[in-house]
Amino acid sequence: MNYGLKKVRKCVVPAAGLGTRFLPATKSVPKELLPIVDTPTLQLIVGEAKHAGIEDVILITARGKSSMVDHFDLSPELEEVLASRGKVAERDALRAISMMARLVSIRQHEPLGLGHAVLQAAGVVGDEPFAVILGDDIIDCDERPGIAQLVDCYERTGKGVVALMEVPWEETSKYGIAAGTMIDERTMRIDRMVEKPKKDPPSNLAVIGRYVLPGRIFGYLRDVKPGVGGEIQLTDALAMLAAEGNLVGYRLRGRRYDAGDRLGYLKANFAFALKRPELREGLIPWIKEMIAEVERGAR
Ligand code: UTP
Repeated sequence: MNYGLKKVRKCVVPAAGLGTRFLPATKSVPKELLPIVDTPTLQLIVGEAKHAGIEDVILITARGKSSMVDHFDLSPELEEVLASRGKVAERDALRAISMMARLVSIRQHEPLGLGHAVLQAAGVVGDEPFAVILGDDIIDCDERPGIAQLVDCYERTGKGVVALMEVPWEETSKYGIAAGTMIDERTMRIDRMVEKPKKDPPSNLAVIGRYVLPGRIFGYLRDVKPGVGGEIQLTDALAMLAAEGNLVGYRLRGRRYDAGDRLGYLKANFAFALKRPELREGLIPWIKEMIAEVERGAR
């Protein structure tokens, strides 16, 4: 722990995107509320922030997505019904959701990109380091939650941190790829980032949906020139931080699921269900049966 550093107390969760990859479900339901087994992705994320000692969550929302804020409110009628049926543990679990964090929501009036979404939080965050977790990005790590790993890295290095994850070399063209020098087995000093490299990727370490950033990133975001469709890219502001030698990447432990993508969402559901003994027992034989049917050509 570097005692000269300000503590990371706030987490920005951009969740104002249109979710076009998940239509028609996302026509009226925010993808961030789609359940992983029975728990919305957004609740998993707020829980992750809480485990990292973060007290304030700043949710970036959009028109038609106010149910995300409702999810973290009290639900007295439902609680009363559960209590009257003797389901006290269930009632307490429901109540605990509203105690998970102090939640502030800010509207992003137009989906003008991730950088623009993060910039909406400038007034609430001010000049202090803060975490960012994308509202559709799940890290499953029993050992240490994803964002806590990044906060640890920030406390060790005093620099902005982006989460990195190894991806197959043939898939590097789908991601922002980090280039730089490894300082230790998991930490890279980032010199530059290459967005979706078509050839010669500098590494197979992709930037994924978690960051710890200094408050001055907001100034850089204001300087970023809008790109295609008026979008303001977070990557451009990160490149400015990297150019001054103040950005590292941390190769996260755990598995990552992009819950905004249909295949990633399905994988997350199976992975989380298989961790639950009451579901695993029925699920495993069923999966085997399904695979056998597919292999026989019966599906
Ligand atoms: P994505 O690119 O995965 O979200 O952004 P999207 O635009 O909703 O996805 P598709 O491609 O249309 O399906 C990652 C996260 O950043 C948020 C999204 O809500 C998501 O949680 N985001 C993205 C914003 O908050 N604002 C934006 O302008 C863009």
